Amino acid sequence: MNDILIVDRLTLRRGNFLLEDVSLSVSEQEIVALIGKTGAGKTVLLETIAGFNKPDCGSVLYQGREIASIPIEQRNIGYLYQDYSLFPYMTAGKNIGYCLKMRGCPRQEIRRQVLEMAERFGITGILQQYPGTLSGGEQQRVALARALMMRPRLLILDEPFSALDPVTKRRLYGMIREIRDQFECSILFVTHDFQEAQELADRVGVLIGGKLQGIVASSDLFRADWNDNTRVFLGLEESS
Ligand SMILES: Nc1ncnc2c1ncn2[C@@H]1O[C@H](COP(=O)(O)OP(=O)(O)OP(=O)(O)O)[C@@H](O)[C@H]1O
Ligand SMILES: [Mg+2]
Repeated sequence: MNDILIVDRLTLRRGNFLLEDVSLSVSEQEIVALIGKTGAGKTVLLETIAGFNKPDCGSVLYQGREIASIPIEQRNIGYLYQDYSLFPYMTAGKNIGYCLKMRGCPRQEIRRQVLEMAERFGITGILQQYPGTLSGGEQQRVALARALMMRPRLLILDEPFSALDPVTKRRLYGMIREIRDQFECSILFVTHDFQEAQELADRVGVLIGGKLQGIVASSDLFRADWNDNTRVFLGLEESS
């Protein structure tokens, strides 16, 4: 399988925090989960992969090109922020259509595509509402719809399910695979929930203190040959 994303020995300092020597790859239409404690550097890593931060060392190749060398409007990576980061002064519909508007797409066409996407996510009834009036689950679906509008080949999701109730979560689990199949994209997502990572992802990576401890097939998450730190993190061993 072809790799859509290759991260090679990525190092980045942010204040006192060091993301150190991270290497990983994501193949076409693969779903990869990243798990790690709060403050482990998951968001910093995702943001660097998406090209928002310039690495101090190492490289991020997206579709064979260094991410920083790809003009922003051609990057075509869908990004769901940890807090969804919807534009507060735009309606949900305008949020979803924003990137098409930026690219000069005609208004009628934007409206058609926004409606089509909204139907897919069951949010046609809230398109006129502003983000501040939406529930967490609604905001999440609007943000997902917005991230998918450009038909990205890579979708990056920073804790997409953490603010949702268990029933909504379950429903969205199914949607992640559907999105992968229908949009033919790869998905890299962060979660705190080991079961969720195992259930949704093909492979799972563990990040501790800015270092990637490894990436294994999800079925091997609890039986791989991890170091002591990772075994403690996964609850396989008591900390000493
Ligand atoms: N701009 C910055 N300046 C200084 N430190 C930063 C900056 N951005 C991030 N950090 C630090 O980097 C570390 C990793 O942050 P990051 O947001 O990636 O953690 P995380 O793994 O996503 O945690 P969480 O699970 O809570 O979202 C934290 O200690 C954070 O304070
Ligand atoms: Mg984070």
